[in-house]
Amino acid sequence: MLLAFTLMLPVTSVLRAQPKPPAPRSNGLALTPPMGWSSWNDFGDEITEQIVLETIDAMVANGMRDAGYVFANLDDGWQRYKGARQEHPLEFDPVKFPRGIKYLADYAHERGMKLGIYSGPGQTTCAGYTGSIGHEAQDAALFASWGIDHLKYDSCCSHRAAPQAELQRVFRTMSNELMKQKRGIVLHACHCGWGDIWKWAADLGVNHWRIGQDISDDFNYPGNREKYYFDVLDQLDRGVGLEQYSGPGHWNDYDMLIVGLNGKSRQLVGTGASNTEYRTHFSLWAMVDSPLLVGSDVRHLDAYTLATLTNKEIIALNQDKGGSIAERVVDNGEQQIFSKELEDGSVAVLLLNRGAATADMTFLPRRDLGAPMDRFSVRDLWAHTDLGSHDTAFTTEVQSHEARVFLIRQLATSVNGRLQPDATAH
Ligand code: GLA
Repeated sequence: MLLAFTLMLPVTSVLRAQPKPPAPRSNGLALTPPMGWSSWNDFGDEITEQIVLETIDAMVANGMRDAGYVFANLDDGWQRYKGARQEHPLEFDPVKFPRGIKYLADYAHERGMKLGIYSGPGQTTCAGYTGSIGHEAQDAALFASWGIDHLKYDSCCSHRAAPQAELQRVFRTMSNELMKQKRGIVLHACHCGWGDIWKWAADLGVNHWRIGQDISDDFNYPGNREKYYFDVLDQLDRGVGLEQYSGPGHWNDYDMLIVGLNGKSRQLVGTGASNTEYRTHFSLWAMVDSPLLVGSDVRHLDAYTLATLTNKEIIALNQDKGGSIAERVVDNGEQQIFSKELEDGSVAVLLLNRGAATADMTFLPRRDLGAPMDRFSVRDLWAHTDLGSHDTAFTTEVQSHEARVFLIRQLATSVNGRLQPDATAH
């Protein structure tokens, strides 16, 4: 009888009876990876109002803002008190920030920039300052009243061993409170790459999450890894296989950039990297759509470093609206090729030489990149030079620890003497 009744149900009712997965929460922000500056990698908690104001001025004057770096983010150390939240309120340090945080946000906004701040879900943050536990609604409202645009919410120390359900609860709580505010606030859930955070954070409305522990100021120095820090290649390898979780509004975060630290960070371990290695690091972070948050002192960048950070052709890969993440398509150990499809059908190709000696590297779009291009143009995005059209494998020299980055476009092919249409020509 029951069977007969069930069979007679109209199809639409049967469909309606299926349980619906909950809709992912979204604040509609960070549709391309956030770009800006963050205080931590160089200054640690020794930040002041003067440093932030001078940083904003420098980013306007040196072209960084116009290249897309609009966030000036205060990391840990802006708070007044060290110690548990149950014993202290959350206030700005009046000695470091005599005119308060709203003054900084207004200053940033008047100059076409945004201001970010830092807190965490525990009693204390990683550097021991008061956290947000039990006061999430109050803190989200406070940040919004100051004009904050970005919150790094850091659970690395307070929740290192917390079960996944508890992690989800604390990030959901803050995400919900931020979404109640009138202004949009980008949310970074910083959990140092633990708890499979990439699998669930986007559904809570998180805009980016770290995929690894803190970066060190090294290109490749395996010893740090055991001591907590990941170098550039560690972070890169960590992201292989996680591409599927990243996309517009919710990004894998490979940690803040070390370009320009030159081994002089007041905070990070590491002896620094060469100019070539910093450029490779920057190219890789752009290709995998990591947020581009500069960690060095941008008030004093040398010309080469500034040219690295403001290469608009490399930044365009990171900010491409298509949001497809570069994949490692060739892996010969020391030589690797990464490929990223852009919204307009062109393809960015990165040739990485991790080895100690210069190597010749080769790619053919169909064979190596899965790109159906038989005749293609090649542009070198660091030399800013067109390298002509090609219909055989493209081979070039790549120095030790260098990344060469090319943009390739399909060109019209000739079949029986007749030109075929070029799908991607502008
Ligand atoms: C953790 C984070 C860092 C930084 C510090 C601040 O270590 O991973 O990026 O925010 O906390 O204390």
